[in-house]
Amino acid sequence: MRLDKFLSSTGRLSRSAAAKAARAGRISVNGEIVRSADRHIDPELDVVVLGGEQLTYRRFTYILLNKPDGYVSATEDGRDPTVLELLPEELQRQNLFPCGRLDKHTLGLMLLTNNGPLAHRLLAPKTHVEKTYFFTLRDPIDAAETARLEKGVYLIDGAGDRYLTRPCAIEMDETGKAGTVVLTEGKYHQVKRLFEEAGNRVLTLERIRFDTLTLDGLDERGAWRYLTVREEETLLAHLNQSQQ
Ligand code: URA
Repeated sequence: MRLDKFLSSTGRLSRSAAAKAARAGRISVNGEIVRSADRHIDPELDVVVLGGEQLTYRRFTYILLNKPDGYVSATEDGRDPTVLELLPEELQRQNLFPCGRLDKHTLGLMLLTNNGPLAHRLLAPKTHVEKTYFFTLRDPIDAAETARLEKGVYLIDGAGDRYLTRPCAIEMDETGKAGTVVLTEGKYHQVKRLFEEAGNRVLTLERIRFDTLTLDGLDERGAWRYLTVREEETLLAHLNQSQQ
């Protein structure tokens, strides 16, 4: 594997930044300064040190992104821009895909990865990963109505089938028109349909949590960053725990 590819896989440097760091003498392989980032290395065996820190190879790429309005959570779309287009070209070539969907006008947290088996586990209906959404409503809603929705109501899914929603947790602010909902399933337009069932309408929707992941450090819409090693480990540990 090329050294610059290895460095970008660790989430530390883009390929062009890796080339610069190499020229500046900040990278060593097995104790020897390497001035060219196109040098080939064995990511499992060679010891790569960047600015004094030893780096570990990450087989998969994980990106957290703050989805802006108007982008679709797909890898390709003939009409609208996709969330992949928010990433540099070099990342667009890494076969990343969105782990789950957000509607075109839903904002907030998206995980993108090229780890298919992990995405499959996170999205499997039996995994019940928690997702928190912040929403605003057209009309105020009262405590009795939110309690009814929390227990579970019948909705029609995208295929036209009736299903009972899993219990969820709703917290409203004092206006009764904005709040958060924690869901453990990801049915088609779930949040919107939930409040439509109560004769209301969701005006804005933002995902602020996906299992153990939050938008920490991604205040701007369209901003993205690599998952830290700690976030990746916490997510995997939590997933293993919840599937035992
Ligand atoms: N529920 C919705 O209605 N839309 C989303 O994008 C996500 C959850």
